[in-house]
Amino acid sequence: MDLKSKINLEKLPRHIAVIMDGNGRWAKEHGMPRVFGHRNGVKAVRETTEACTELGVKYLTLYAFSTENWNRPEAEVSALMTLLVETIKKEIKTLNENGVRLQAIGDLSRLPEKSRKTLLQAMEDTKQNPRMTLVLALNYSAKWEIVEAARKLAKAAKSGEIEPADIDDEAFSNALSTAGIPDPELLIRTSGENRISNFLLWQIAYAELYFTPTLWPDFRREHLYQAILDFQNRERRFGKTSEQLV
Ligand code: IPE
Ligand code: IPE
Ligand code: MG
Repeated sequence: MDLKSKINLEKLPRHIAVIMDGNGRWAKEHGMPRVFGHRNGVKAVRETTEACTELGVKYLTLYAFSTENWNRPEAEVSALMTLLVETIKKEIKTLNENGVRLQAIGDLSRLPEKSRKTLLQAMEDTKQNPRMTLVLALNYSAKWEIVEAARKLAKAAKSGEIEPADIDDEAFSNALSTAGIPDPELLIRTSGENRISNFLLWQIAYAELYFTPTLWPDFRREHLYQAILDFQNRERRFGKTSEQLV
C-alpha cells in the first residue's frame, strides 16, 4: 500500500512546521557551490506545499532564513534573497490556483527593499485564498519574536491599556507574529541535525518533533507522508497518563 493511503485524514496535523536544512551539504555532495543547493531546495518547497494542500493540512510554516543567517558570506545571503524574489514571482500563479494564502513571519523590515515588496505584494494577491496558509519565516528568530511580544505587552501595560495580570498564555500568543495561527503539531527538520535553531520556541511547546537525515533538496511527498504517519503513531498525552486517554 502506498504511504499516502495509510494516512488517517481525520487525524492530520492542522499545522506542520519545517526547518528546511541541508542545502549546502547537498550541493557539496554534487560537487557544486552552496547556491546550487538552495536552488534545488525550491522543488522540495513546491512538493511539500502541494502535498499539504492536497491532504488538507491547514497551515504550513517553512523556515527560510533565520536572523543568524545574515552571518553567512555576503554572496550567499544575496543569492538567497534573489532566489526568494524569483520563486515568489514564479509560484504566485500556482498558489492562487491551489488556493494557498501566503503569509510571513520575522523582521521583514531588514529584508532588501525588492524582496520585501515582492513578498508583500504576493501576500496581498493571495490573501483571499481559503485552502491553506503557507507561512514563510524570513529573517525570523524565536527569541526576537518573544522579546518583541514582551515589549508590546509592557508598552500596553504601561499605557494602562491592559493590566499586568491580563498577560496570560493567550495574550502572549496573540502578541507573537503567529497570532491567529494555531501552534504547529508537527515539526520536521531535515538534514540530520537534532536542534531547533531559534525557530518557534513558544509555539512548539507541545509539538511532535521529527528529525530526518534526508537533505532538504531531496525531500519529496513520500518523506512528508512518512513524517505524518510517524506523527499519527505517537501518543500525545499532554501531561496525562496513557490510561486517561482511552
Ligand atoms: C538550509 O540549508 C537553508 C538555509 C538555512 C537558508 P543550509 O544552507 O543550512 O545547508 P547546510 O546545513 O549548510 O547543509
Ligand atoms: C536553520 O538552519 C535556519 C533555516 C533553515 C532557515 P541553519 O543551517 O541556519 O541552522 P544551524 O546554524 O545549523 O543551527
Ligand atoms: Mg544548515
